[in-house]
Amino acid sequence: MQFKALALLLVAAAPAVFAAPAPAANVKINSDLRVNPDGWTPIYADYIGHMKSRFVNKPVTVAQASQANTKTGYYIEGNNNSDDLFMGIMRQVTGLVPNQLYKMDWNINMTSPFGDNCFGVGGSPGGSNYVKIGGATNKPNVGQKRTASGDFWTFTNFDHGHQADDGKDMSTVSNISVPGAECEGTEYGLVPTILDLRRRPVKADANGSLWAVIGIDSGFEGVTGVYYQQIAIEFIPATAEEAEFPF
Ligand SMILES: *[C@@H]1O[C@H](CO)[C@@H](O)[C@H](O)[C@H]1NC(C)=O
Ligand SMILES: *[C@@H]1O[C@H](CO)[C@@H](O)[C@H](O)[C@H]1NC(C)=O
Ligand SMILES: *[C@@H]1O[C@H](CO)[C@@H](O)[C@H](O)[C@H]1NC(C)=O
Ligand SMILES: *[C@@H]1O[C@H](CO)[C@@H](O)[C@H](O)[C@H]1NC(C)=O
Repeated sequence: MQFKALALLLVAAAPAVFAAPAPAANVKINSDLRVNPDGWTPIYADYIGHMKSRFVNKPVTVAQASQANTKTGYYIEGNNNSDDLFMGIMRQVTGLVPNQLYKMDWNINMTSPFGDNCFGVGGSPGGSNYVKIGGATNKPNVGQKRTASGDFWTFTNFDHGHQADDGKDMSTVSNISVPGAECEGTEYGLVPTILDLRRRPVKADANGSLWAVIGIDSGFEGVTGVYYQQIAIEFIPATAEEAEFPF
């Protein structure tokens, strides 16, 4: 009781300190997935139930990362793509200001086995595998949807868009083609570093957490496997006006 009264007195005595909260600061994460998965986990959507058994996803890490080793990082593979498979990785980011809006400034290095001028069923393996980035307050969830054609699995609470098109929660920023690479799809090369500031802000939850998601949405029917090697994201506080008019 006495302590509470004292605390109230102190607050009353120093109103200037409590009047305006400090502006939220930028927060950065910097994951080197060649060394450590750093909290990233696989996520797949838009697939027929039986395709699930063919997904391959595993961290391939080494003690000492090197640019020459193009087959390290978080490996994500999908087969046959239902024409439209989404596959990627996501992680929860903590330590943000509760209920604050953030823009996400991405810096991504990944490797893929596809050149920029190759042909495949449904589209070119490199150019028709669109890289998408985004985020959400709540953990993206994939659930089963019964359709006339059977057993389809898709996001229940997250709008990643369709193939090259943006969704509310994700934007298409590039593709996985490696300039000058062969078309056999066996040698992995570096996709040019993807730099993108996504202007549509994502709100941190009441605990100061949100989810970051990166993936590829495919228009190519075949096996696609990529390594996510390095992902840095800077979270930049945004205003409600920016959420209203992000572009
Ligand atoms: C995947 O595609 C290959 C080549 O088109 C085909 O032989 C195979 O049966 C397909 N697999 C599934 C599960 O549909
Ligand atoms: C794929 O991305 C590269 C940039 O890395 C771009 O130059 C190229 O035009 C894109 N290809 C397609 C088919 O969109
Ligand atoms: C915040 O954290 C608490 C304790 O871990 C948890 O019970 C609660 O569900 C979290 N709230 C949100 C919005 O995630
Ligand atoms: C991606 O690679 C470039 C070139 O080596 C490097 O400058 C950049 O820091 C890397 N990005 C990340 C997120 O590590």
